[in-house]
Amino acid sequence: MNKQIARSMIALSGLAWLGAGCASTSPLAAQPAALPKDKVDAPALFVENCATCHGKDGRARTFHGRILFAQNLTDPRWHATDIEIIDAIKTGPWAMPAFEKKLSVAEIESLGAYVRTFKSPH
Ligand code: HEC
Repeated sequence: MNKQIARSMIALSGLAWLGAGCASTSPLAAQPAALPKDKVDAPALFVENCATCHGKDGRARTFHGRILFAQNLTDPRWHATDIEIIDAIKTGPWAMPAFEKKLSVAEIESLGAYVRTFKSPH
């Protein structure tokens, strides 16, 4: 069995008992949806919506992060373009929830830029 399939099976069995709980316990989109991009508090949004899995520092050293193999956003080996990051936040790759309907475009774009700041520059 290859690693990807093994990972998926472990995570799916984890998901079965977690249900959608990991995402829904955090207050989603607590900020007014129509805020312009420069008014969006991306760090606060990250803590509200993303830190359960990715950790406040982006390292994904959290309970949910470990179970679901959430991306360590500080990993210098991690390569994703801005478009891929935005797309990931919108559609939710694999075990990650989709945020397209929960967050505004400005919020998603701000989070995308914020996610970039975690990555070590080497
Ligand atoms: C329920 C847990 C969970 C939550 C909540 C979550 N993620 Fe993720 N995220 C994951 C997992 C798991 C992956 C790895 C997916 C994979 O391996 O393809 C991931 C991957 C990513 C990636 C990498 C995509 C890529 O192309 O490499 C980014 C960027 C990301 N998440 C950002 C966010 C942001 C921003 C939020 C909050 C708006 C968020 N995540 C909330 C679990 C989560």
